Amino acid sequence: MPSAIYPDLEHKRVVITGGGSGIGAGLVEAFAEQGAEVHYLDILEPVERRSDAGRGSVHFHACDLTDAKALAGTLSEIGDIDVLINNAANDDRHRLEDITPEYWDERMAVNLRHLVLAAREVAPAMRRRGSGAIINLGSISWHLGQPDLLLYETAKAGIEGLTRALASDLGGDGIRVNCVIPGNVKTPRQSRWYGPEDEAQIVTEQKLKIRIHPHHVAAMVLFLASDAAAACTAHNYWVDAGWL
Ligand SMILES: NC(=O)c1ccc[n+]([C@@H]2O[C@H](COP(=O)([O-])OP(=O)(O)OC[C@H]3O[C@@H](n4cnc5c(N)ncnc54)[C@H](O)[C@@H]3O)[C@@H](O)[C@H]2O)c1
Repeated sequence: MPSAIYPDLEHKRVVITGGGSGIGAGLVEAFAEQGAEVHYLDILEPVERRSDAGRGSVHFHACDLTDAKALAGTLSEIGDIDVLINNAANDDRHRLEDITPEYWDERMAVNLRHLVLAAREVAPAMRRRGSGAIINLGSISWHLGQPDLLLYETAKAGIEGLTRALASDLGGDGIRVNCVIPGNVKTPRQSRWYGPEDEAQIVTEQKLKIRIHPHHVAAMVLFLASDAAAACTAHNYWVDAGWL
């Protein structure tokens, strides 16, 4: 897909959580195209074709993001990081009556906690250099109030709050923190929840009559990661084709 080239992203060290599929896989390819050194963390097996993607380099790290020690260890092995993209999440459906304290902890660990822990790990080096970009992936789901996603939506609402708090705490050191909010993006996992009729209904409700693909989200994330967004922090950037 055609995309702007941001020369300052070349050779930048970029970490993408959940880069093994869906939007994350699109982000891995997009940053590699920019000539960045891309590191992606996932519980899925690495995808072969990505080893030589684009002009940059791509490195896979097997890491369960709900394991705080494993996450800290992996990030420290990678070294100083210029751009952190907190992308991984899990949108399993659930009902109020099935939520236990353990399930709450597990859902927050996979959808919220690792974003803060990863930011904590990368912040010291960004502070030393006086620059850095952190981009969190939010979701349109809680804005729409979709059913059967209570804990996912609770976590996603929290991500918008933590984006503003982190931007405030880190802005004095030149670190920008933003949130990208996708609408309904066509990925392999989403086909579990949405059939062709549901997709058509979503397109009808959107102001733009297109399906959103990972590269549409990647275009926004690239911009926010680059120096072109030097004055952008603490806000949400929507890629929803005008669904909300
Ligand atoms: N696809 C959409 O329509 C959509 C809509 C709104 C928001 N989003 C958000 O965009 C982001 C990407 O969504 P997606 O649709 O590509 O998701 P996806 O489920 O297709 O991919 C998520 C990736 O994260 C990985 N992951 C999950 N749990 C992990 C763990 N414990 N440790 C390591 N890796 C783990 C998965 O293996 C997977 O590769 C998420 O934050 C999601 O909430 C997506």
